[in-house]
Amino acid sequence: MQATTSWGSAGTVIGGRYRLEQPIVKGAMGTIWRAEHTQLRTPVAVKLLDPLLARDQEMRGRFLQEARSAAAVRSSHVVQVFDSGVEDGVPYIVMEFLEGESLDVRLAERGPLSPGELRKIFGEVARALAKAHSLGVVHRDIKPSNIFLSREGPYEITKLVDFGIAKVKSEALSFTHVGTKMGTLLGTPQYMSPEQARGSCTVDYRTDLWAMAIVACECLTGRCPFSGRTVGDLTIQICTERPTAPSELGRVPRGFDAWFFKATGKSPGQRFKSMAAMEGALTPILVAAESRAAAARRPPRWLQQSFRRPTWLSRGWSWPALPALPSLSGLSWLPASPRVRELRAACATAVSALAARWLQLRSRVQASLAQWWDTLPEERRRLALLAMLSLFGLTLLVASSVFRQEAPPRGSVIPAAAAAPPASAGGARPPAASSR
Ligand SMILES: Nc1ncnc2c1ncn2[C@@H]1O[C@H](COP(=O)(O)OP(=O)(O)O)[C@@H](O)[C@H]1O
Ligand SMILES: [Mg+2]
Repeated sequence: MQATTSWGSAGTVIGGRYRLEQPIVKGAMGTIWRAEHTQLRTPVAVKLLDPLLARDQEMRGRFLQEARSAAAVRSSHVVQVFDSGVEDGVPYIVMEFLEGESLDVRLAERGPLSPGELRKIFGEVARALAKAHSLGVVHRDIKPSNIFLSREGPYEITKLVDFGIAKVKSEALSFTHVGTKMGTLLGTPQYMSPEQARGSCTVDYRTDLWAMAIVACECLTGRCPFSGRTVGDLTIQICTERPTAPSELGRVPRGFDAWFFKATGKSPGQRFKSMAAMEGALTPILVAAESRAAAARRPPRWLQQSFRRPTWLSRGWSWPALPALPSLSGLSWLPASPRVRELRAACATAVSALAARWLQLRSRVQASLAQWWDTLPEERRRLALLAMLSLFGLTLLVASSVFRQEAPPRGSVIPAAAAAPPASAGGARPPAASSR
């Protein structure tokens, strides 16, 4: 975006103390600027109403109403409004400057959210809306671009922005009064409730519940449940048709469809009673999905189990037994004289001690393995399991070759008695061959 817009340019000082620095985004109603508070030297965001819209007195009134509505809902999940006013006939709102991205950008860049991610974002927006509803403020424009994921140090906090068409209980203005500018104001109608799409004057907080259900569906599946191409098609679908089940649009947790259909009852009375009730019903569905996903990610049980160190095993002493392993394998290749057999027995004992020591280390090895397993992408896990099993098989093979029964050397003369043919039927057993 260029550093100038149809109104306002970098360097302009608004309200005597907010210096415009850079336009952030050109929205439906105006432009959001990054600015600096000239006295405090802190960054702020300044929203300027489009000069064309600013000619309309009703628009100006509505724009300044946005500032009052957002300021009224004092919540850590609503963008903080510091100031508002009119400069050269153009109204402006000064807000805290948020760093991060809006939910629509996040979804476009990273695709659908996990149940855990949705639980956090949904919970935070629900808290903001519950507060707004308790004060008689209805947002009426809940959609991903009005949900901002603000980066605050290592944390991410969800903030609701754009109370541009919010309705306040005491306010006489109704939706229908917006007239031909309605399309401009609302942007995409995909999140509108049937009563809002019909332009009903009796829109209440339950319109936000509807929109939150559509947002939740989009977050999990990446798609909206109403797919009309034109505003007219969409309005008819929203007012008369059942939305597509989220499970037909993408992967959703068990129970999500039922929650979604309850939240999008055509009549407001069929929906949840409040934002808190709606969130309360969604949370266990998402938590169950999270734990199922965590269980699927967890390393196999045998990899997790930690072995207790045998109490009789004293620290350190088994390390000197380490050379016993190669000695044992070396000894197994020698002819089995009584001396060699004794040596083999001693080495086998030392190797057993070493194995016990290894058990002691095993829990640490397992912990690291489990950690590594956690970081592995899903498709690599099967391969890793196969590799581990092959390694285990190979180890067994090597071990069995070390302990194998020694075969008589090739070409050696077999004693006559051992080579004697089997006893003839009814005949006496031949005398046992003398041991080697
Ligand atoms: N305080 C802020 N700090 C930083 N970015 C903001 C702020 N408020 C809004 N934005 C960005 O500007 C976009 C449009 O703001 P919004 O208030 O929704 O305007 P519009 O009425 O034009 O839709 C938001 O989606 C968000 O990305
Ligand atoms: Mg907006």
